[in-house]
Amino acid sequence: MVKCIRVLKKDGEPVRSKLISLGLLDLSFRIRSDGDHILLPVVCDSFEDYEIIDEELEVQKHMETDYRELIEVPSELKEKLPNSYDVIGDVALIKLEDELLSYKGQIGKALMAVIPSLRTVMLDSGVKGEFRIRDLEQIAGTGTSETIHKEFGTRMLTDPAKVYFNPRLATERERITLEVKSGETIIDMFAGVAPFGMVICKHAYPKIMYSIDLNPEAEYFAKRNVEMNHITNLVIITGDAKEAVKDLPQADRIIMNLPQMADQFLQYALEKAKVGATIHLHKIIERSDFDDFVKELVSKMKGFGYDMHIARTSELKTYSPTMSVYVLDIVRD
Ligand SMILES: C[S@@+](CC[C@H](N)C(=O)[O-])C[C@H]1O[C@@H](n2cnc3c(N)ncnc32)[C@H](O)[C@@H]1O
Repeated sequence: MVKCIRVLKKDGEPVRSKLISLGLLDLSFRIRSDGDHILLPVVCDSFEDYEIIDEELEVQKHMETDYRELIEVPSELKEKLPNSYDVIGDVALIKLEDELLSYKGQIGKALMAVIPSLRTVMLDSGVKGEFRIRDLEQIAGTGTSETIHKEFGTRMLTDPAKVYFNPRLATERERITLEVKSGETIIDMFAGVAPFGMVICKHAYPKIMYSIDLNPEAEYFAKRNVEMNHITNLVIITGDAKEAVKDLPQADRIIMNLPQMADQFLQYALEKAKVGATIHLHKIIERSDFDDFVKELVSKMKGFGYDMHIARTSELKTYSPTMSVYVLDIVRD
């Protein structure tokens, strides 16, 4: 039984506000309707002229938002529970240190409890191979890792076990989309399931965009995404970007999101870039080496006979304690 006051519905809101302002409303129980009255739970033994009565009220459920609060692990391991993870559609991917692996089931269930939209949680043991595919193991929920991710008004079918997909690039995809001018020809050299293509073709007005990827699985997902988003000006190509670009027209913009090695493809991109075109080159590197990398890249490309300058650089995210992922906006002069 809970201590309450019985208040006419028409007086309910002002009385509730007064109780809150005096710190007298008992927030651990739910307010209940009772005919033309409401029952307000209180933490006091008297309030104005109201009689204090005992009634059955439901406990107010507190929705926990931090999965770490739902996990019982030895205190020395508590601080190793990751505070970040990726959510792709209704699938969560989490990386765990070895000491936490015996708690993986509990961790998966805790994530599902705090994010009600999740269908499954996968343990992510990192990306491997030239397709950058994730090594995944289901630790909670049901079904596969195939899912539909929503981003900036588009829907993207993907499966991180079959093709690379990075939900953390949403802001970068939006930034580039806002730069695109109507009628541009765009090439995405390392496109995955074509998320740059979806967002750009949906919100900007390129004449045509080409999405290239070496992974044959990417083509299946990219084609489904084109249909699902009613896109008509995106061409999907499976193959090595170095070769595939040779058959394409000169471009106004080229996206190079293969941060481990995109710089090794830069001369092929410059060959396809119109004068004034922008190339968005991603690069993972030690933070202390970044300035030297930029200088060497410019001098190497000038050595190959390409006039270009770096219009902008920005650090997209931290990759490790000493390394970051950068994006360089390179303009062909
Ligand atoms: C970092 S992922 C990019 C994914 C995509 N841009 C996104 O935002 O989700 C790099 C992609 O490059 C592809 N790739 C690797 N080597 C390639 C090559 N030589 N030519 C074309 N694609 C390549 C991989 O299969 C992978 O899908």
